[in-house]
Amino acid sequence: MIILGIESTCDETGVAVLKIIEKKDGQTNIKVLANVISSQIAKHKKFGGVVPQLAAKLHQKNIILVLEKALKLAKITASKDLDKIDLISVAKGPGLIPALLVGVSAAKTLAWGLKKPLVGVNHMEGHIVSSLLETNEKRKTKNEKLFELPALALLVSGGHTQLVLIKDWLKYEILGETRDDAAGEAFDKVAKMLGLGYPGGAKIEELAEKGNFKAFDFPRPMAKSRNYDFSFSGLKTSVKYTLESLDLKLKVLPSIRNTYISDIAASFQAAVIDVLADKTIRAAEEYKIKTLIIGGGVSINQALRRELKKSLKEKLPTVKFLAPEKEYSNDNAAMIALAGYFRFKAGEAGNWKSVQADAKLKLG
Ligand code: KG4
Ligand code: ZN
Repeated sequence: MIILGIESTCDETGVAVLKIIEKKDGQTNIKVLANVISSQIAKHKKFGGVVPQLAAKLHQKNIILVLEKALKLAKITASKDLDKIDLISVAKGPGLIPALLVGVSAAKTLAWGLKKPLVGVNHMEGHIVSSLLETNEKRKTKNEKLFELPALALLVSGGHTQLVLIKDWLKYEILGETRDDAAGEAFDKVAKMLGLGYPGGAKIEELAEKGNFKAFDFPRPMAKSRNYDFSFSGLKTSVKYTLESLDLKLKVLPSIRNTYISDIAASFQAAVIDVLADKTIRAAEEYKIKTLIIGGGVSINQALRRELKKSLKEKLPTVKFLAPEKEYSNDNAAMIALAGYFRFKAGEAGNWKSVQADAKLKLG
């Protein structure tokens, strides 16, 4: 079947086309025919973060262009063979309501006009299934056994930090989440303090590779608490005070500035990774999971991947580690189309009336 996915929860306008072939032997082939993303990052940069009204305007401006491009890549001619599309899947939340309304309205209009089923999915479920997508590859996988259960997902993005337990297929229990800033948000705020621009996660990682992660002893917030919640705002403040106390030195000795900046980036990144990895591995042990999944923009971070793999190897060598390719780590519509396929199989698709945007949608 052919699935059209639409993503507009935040600052990426995405449209994807997936082809899913269900074989008689229970195998499922997932093929990404198109995954087009129009990022608005450059437009939000000067405001230091995403401005919801601007995001909505840009989604409105771009969504049909992105749709046209995706259809073209998938070799679907808009004027004659839109009927090839079997299902429309849209991210209905969580996200910024002005942004969500654009994608959801486009999806409803398509479903109404084409008389095709529509399914609204949770953006975070998209991140959970994103590691099942492979660039230009057919992936053979046994239906319904895509992850060996129980599985644990660490979802880390600009808006979310969650540890999610999956005991049953498509059923989620949030074990813990951030009480203040999301992990990506902390990366972005610290990057701003260091003058690295927005979004800053990738730049911090690049500098951290050159820095000494032991140079500054930043706090590991909530590392010792027995729950699975996170907090990153104290860490961010600690970086701020460190920078203020170094200010004089940085002015007097500009030659050592770069070393300091790299050391701060490395020490900050090490603190975030320590907390994320510690809690993830602790939950993995407690719930005796078989698969560890990571997803979201921060999951691209190679130091985080290395740390998780190392800890699994030492403590839980039989646990399978699944991480999305770069193209599917950031917000994209291919993951929304795939989550929509699973929900369709679970009997959850309806007509155009069945989906409403929900900014605070919870995983359940
Ligand atoms: O999932 P995503 O594309 O959008 C949201 O739903 O938020 O995640 C974007 C976030 C940003 O905060 C960005 O700074 C962070 O992912 N990020 C990284 C890296 N690349 C992107 N954080 C740490 N290390 C990276 N290499
Ligand atoms: Zn996301």
